[in-house]
Amino acid sequence: MSGGPPGEPVSLAAVDPDAARPVPTGVAEMDRVLAGGLVPGSLTLVYGEPGVGKSTLLLQVLLASASSGRSALLASAEESTSQVRVRAARLGPIPPSLFVVGGADVTLVGEAVAAVHPDVVVADSVQALVDPEVSGVPGTLAQVRACADRLAQLARREGPAVVVVGHVTKEGGLAGPRALEHLVDTVLSFEGDRHHALRLLRAVKHRFGPTGEVGLFEMGEEGLRAVADPGPLLLGDRRPEVPGSAVSALLHGRRPLVVEIQALAYGAGRGSAARTAQGIDPRRLASLVAVLECRAGVVTASGELFVSATAGVRAVEPATDLPVSLAVASAAQGLALPADLISFGEIGLAGEVRQVPGADRRLAEAARLGFTRALVPASTAEGPAALALFRVGTLVEALDVAFGLTDRAGGDVPALATGTMPSWPNPAAIR
Ligand code: TYD
Ligand code: MG
Repeated sequence: MSGGPPGEPVSLAAVDPDAARPVPTGVAEMDRVLAGGLVPGSLTLVYGEPGVGKSTLLLQVLLASASSGRSALLASAEESTSQVRVRAARLGPIPPSLFVVGGADVTLVGEAVAAVHPDVVVADSVQALVDPEVSGVPGTLAQVRACADRLAQLARREGPAVVVVGHVTKEGGLAGPRALEHLVDTVLSFEGDRHHALRLLRAVKHRFGPTGEVGLFEMGEEGLRAVADPGPLLLGDRRPEVPGSAVSALLHGRRPLVVEIQALAYGAGRGSAARTAQGIDPRRLASLVAVLECRAGVVTASGELFVSATAGVRAVEPATDLPVSLAVASAAQGLALPADLISFGEIGLAGEVRQVPGADRRLAEAARLGFTRALVPASTAEGPAALALFRVGTLVEALDVAFGLTDRAGGDVPALATGTMPSWPNPAAIR
């Protein structure tokens, strides 16, 4: 990876740039996220929640690498070698140049690398490994750090690309793998809900290239498959005529994803206010509900409110403020939004709708999927011809336009509309 022995200054111009050239893994979506592939001598951390598919993804990477003539080694500290064998058989033919070593001792990984000289090494997982020279049980911060450090040294010394798996929990689990970010060259996060098929792979840190690309996979019977068009997975079962459904165009890295946001308001007037958020930041939801009430007079506070992003997607960027607010208002009022409407925009505490990055990419994806109207921040530039833009400066305007479109469309107001009617529009609340 470097140009010259440690400690010896060399002219930067004389350093061989090809020493850090990525080698494709053969898993195309992974290579895309890595801007080409894994760099020999580097250490990559792949983290995600348990069950999301990290072991499957990396076994596929090893299988693909080994079947294209390189040698690959899996250090499996969590699963026995026979469990790995069973899983691998589901994923495809097993090339002879794929090796596996069991056991939790990180020094055994070094010995296996010295024996096999692999091009790619996967250590699964950093929480299950143990450095015998460090006290503490596996998974403690000191152990996790020591093991990652050993693997980084191994990569640098022996030259293989090393990938280490780390588990995080829904609550963040920051003390674990995230504490390793400074120790590694590349950090990939693997996201998705284990009960849904869609998985997102993205680079959080990458020393060898840009971090904007996102890989999309679908978990199936035979492992992870690349998803070329996530539209059907994300919107396939949508019921736009039901109140509480709004569609947003999110950006994950540079990649636009059109996602449904659903809200359900229940038990108004019982006095037990509660909110449940799935795939949406609960604190953000709380502030949006407050802004809806204080700036636009949409009251939900006396009942239970459920809000979720469908298909297990995390819709946590500020651009989802507007669709979340529309979904909540739609649910609270029992009025469905137009089926062909998408929206995006950040909402400030003053009830203003703010611009978000990548409007052009969001609009292009929405148009591709057949949406014809978009509710967007005031400064949004013209988008695809097939998409009529409705530019709004405030949440009140946005509600006006969105539900106004429903009325004008005629017949869109569903039988489900309950008549528990809204204080919105409530002029007193609109300042
Ligand atoms: P796994 O890769 O073990 O997750 P992680 O290492 O992140 O904990 O796999 C997660 C789930 O994926 C597991 O519950 C079984 C399922 N799965 C499939 O649906 N299809 C497959 O081909 C494989 C190998 C696993
Ligand atoms: Mg695993």
